Amino acid sequence: MKDYQATVVKNEEIARGICEITFRLQETAKVRPGQFGAISVGGVHLLRRPIAVCKAEGNEVTFCYQIKGDGTKKLKNVGAGSVLNVLMPLGNGFFVEENEKKVALVGGGVGIFPLVSVVRAYANEKEISSFIGFRNAGAVCALEEFEKSAKFVAVTDDGSFGEKMNSVQAFEKALAEGYRPDVILSCGPTPMLRALKAVAVRENIPCYVSLEERMGCGIGACLVCVCNLTNGARARVCKDGPVFNANEVNL
Ligand SMILES: Cc1cc2nc3c(=O)[nH]c(=O)nc-3n(C[C@H](O)[C@H](O)[C@H](O)COP(=O)(O)OP(=O)(O)OC[C@H]3O[C@@H](n4cnc5c(N)ncnc54)[C@H](O)[C@@H]3O)c2cc1C
Ligand code: FES
Repeated sequence: MKDYQATVVKNEEIARGICEITFRLQETAKVRPGQFGAISVGGVHLLRRPIAVCKAEGNEVTFCYQIKGDGTKKLKNVGAGSVLNVLMPLGNGFFVEENEKKVALVGGGVGIFPLVSVVRAYANEKEISSFIGFRNAGAVCALEEFEKSAKFVAVTDDGSFGEKMNSVQAFEKALAEGYRPDVILSCGPTPMLRALKAVAVRENIPCYVSLEERMGCGIGACLVCVCNLTNGARARVCKDGPVFNANEVNL
């Protein structure tokens, strides 16, 4: 992990309310799929914003973010050539075991972005099936990334692009048609992860979820980001996660 002085190469809107920002670092950063960066948006916004790494190619790294509150609004206005502090890579990331050949990715909303890094890392060695949900057609993005999967289904909550369902329902539909992955990797809103965990438990399929929690330091020191584990212990999402075995975390 390093605090990079990262130069913005480009920062542009790729779907309604979603931007993609690419930074040039001083060196190639070794990033696992599912790891994240803490981006300083400067000014009075002292807390850095945690954003998943979408792509890491050579000394360039790309994040996709939804414009939500003050921090991301400020980030949207950062132009090419600006320099921001980016602390990365943070967190554990997704791991795929040697014997897990068929990998299902189930993502919703901004949770699709860490899954882009999984497709990029594993598309050549694993059979990846991606089930990706957007709110509506205006939010659709990153299709060209998920098209690298062996199978790819995109759906929307309102049916304005693909079928009208969420990504967990799309995954369940595939299961009903005989599909069975060796492992499920997922990221999205907590209700989505809860529904997916229920399916994974019912079907007895290992499932890993990437959690979103409000963060302070991003490096395990402040305990702002703790979540409850099923064994009664607590874990730091930034350092012990953000990826957890779904069976080990309370959703
Ligand atoms: C590990 C991780 C990875 C993430 N990856 C992405 C991603 O790839 N793309 C993306 O669009 N968003 C991602 N998020 C959510 C993103 O961090 C928040 O949307 C963002 O911090 C909102 O900042 P804001 O200033 O615009 O909003 P505000 O609501 O003004 O933020 C106020 C404070 O709350 C925190 N906060 C608000 N919402 C969240 C949230 N959902 N999760 C964590 N902290 C939050 C902010 O960091 C800030 O400290 C991720 C969150 C985590 C924890
Ligand atoms: S954000 Fe400080 S411990 Fe996780």
